[in-house]
Amino acid sequence: MKIPFVFGKPALEENFADRKEEIHQIVQNFKSLSNTILISPRGWGKSSLMKKAAEISIKTEHDLKFCFVSLNGIKNEEEFYNTVAKELLRIVSTEFEVIRGIAKKYLGKIFLKIKLISDSTNEFSLLLDMEETNKFPEEILNLAENIAIENNKRIIVCIEDFQNISGFADTISFQQKLKSVWQSHKNAAYCLSGSNRFILSELFETQEMPLYGFGDIILLEKIKTEEWIPFLIGRFVNTGKSIDKNSAELIVRLAENHPQYVQILAQQSWLRSPYICNEQIIGDAYESILLQKSLLFQNITARLSDTQVYFLNALISGTDKFNSQKVLLKYKLGTSGNITKIKKALVEKEIIDIQSGKISFLDPFYKAWLAKYYFLEYTNEFSA
Ligand SMILES: Nc1ncnc2c1ncn2[C@@H]1O[C@H](COP(=O)(O)OP(=O)(O)OP(=O)(O)O)[C@@H](O)[C@H]1O
Ligand SMILES: [Mg+2]
Repeated sequence: MKIPFVFGKPALEENFADRKEEIHQIVQNFKSLSNTILISPRGWGKSSLMKKAAEISIKTEHDLKFCFVSLNGIKNEEEFYNTVAKELLRIVSTEFEVIRGIAKKYLGKIFLKIKLISDSTNEFSLLLDMEETNKFPEEILNLAENIAIENNKRIIVCIEDFQNISGFADTISFQQKLKSVWQSHKNAAYCLSGSNRFILSELFETQEMPLYGFGDIILLEKIKTEEWIPFLIGRFVNTGKSIDKNSAELIVRLAENHPQYVQILAQQSWLRSPYICNEQIIGDAYESILLQKSLLFQNITARLSDTQVYFLNALISGTDKFNSQKVLLKYKLGTSGNITKIKKALVEKEIIDIQSGKISFLDPFYKAWLAKYYFLEYTNEFSA
């Protein structure tokens, strides 16, 4: 029987829950070639949502084409240009010769070589003259617009992990180049997404920054319990099993509505259910996921400084008065000046999130693991 829950890849078709409003908004943006900025922590569903909105848009807008680019691991401008060029060329055609023709025509003086690596997958490598690319980056930055015009199409370029551009050398002038070229496009639009809210809001919401006002900003939320419950019940029923409302709610509560974790916990619970899923099964599934992730969580913790770990302990204990002398002393947090630094570092490491002054863990299972397995041995020490 096909397992009815997915994670580790975008949720599509029957695996996709809710998001009606966001879909509507993004589909409108795609159709009108407006730029979109999609921001949420990891695993909340940006890629799934972009793919879903793309899928819906092309049903009625037959001239829309989508290009998906991931900046995961991209560290500099040169890698950016190469990746973007390659992904754009990939959508031109399934025929390698056609791709080669377009590359030669539009990449002009920066084009060096394109080589077919695999016939069956049409995988190719692209070699650009980097010296020339640095002199004429608009050859790449205009590529989507040029391909769109050449093929009489409209192109949406969806770029994920966009926060990585903030680490490029001379990122401000790079951002200026992006803005000045991309905003002139009439046949291409951009959907830029990323997980680091801190960096992305600086890029798009700070007036002095080049990309300020570049697009419609969507801060994606988690999926609400009332949307999850019918989704989970439906996925169980469709595969010949069942789960009642309370148990479905327990899955969502334990996973704190985090889309990826709801799917992981639902899958593990489904696998353990001979026919009917119940709270006992969900509890066992939850424990086993915590243990499976133990090594990963240990590694994450090992990369934190002592004070950052102490801060997390204070957070788990329910403290919110981090600047009080008592808390600073009890959790060995140093001076209150330290707290700002610790919070900033933990936000940058994508461990915590701060919204309207409220601090929360991004990973509900990491929080549970710390509380249950990591801090347990410190409890006495701290409560002394
Ligand atoms: N709308 C949805 N309905 C059901 N499950 C979802 C939905 N969105 C996301 N998920 C679950 O969350 C997982 C992660 O989703 P996705 O890859 O879209 O997140 P992301 O925000 O792009 O993450 P990252 O920042 O790591 O790229 C999916 O594999 C799926 O399990
Ligand atoms: Mg993604």
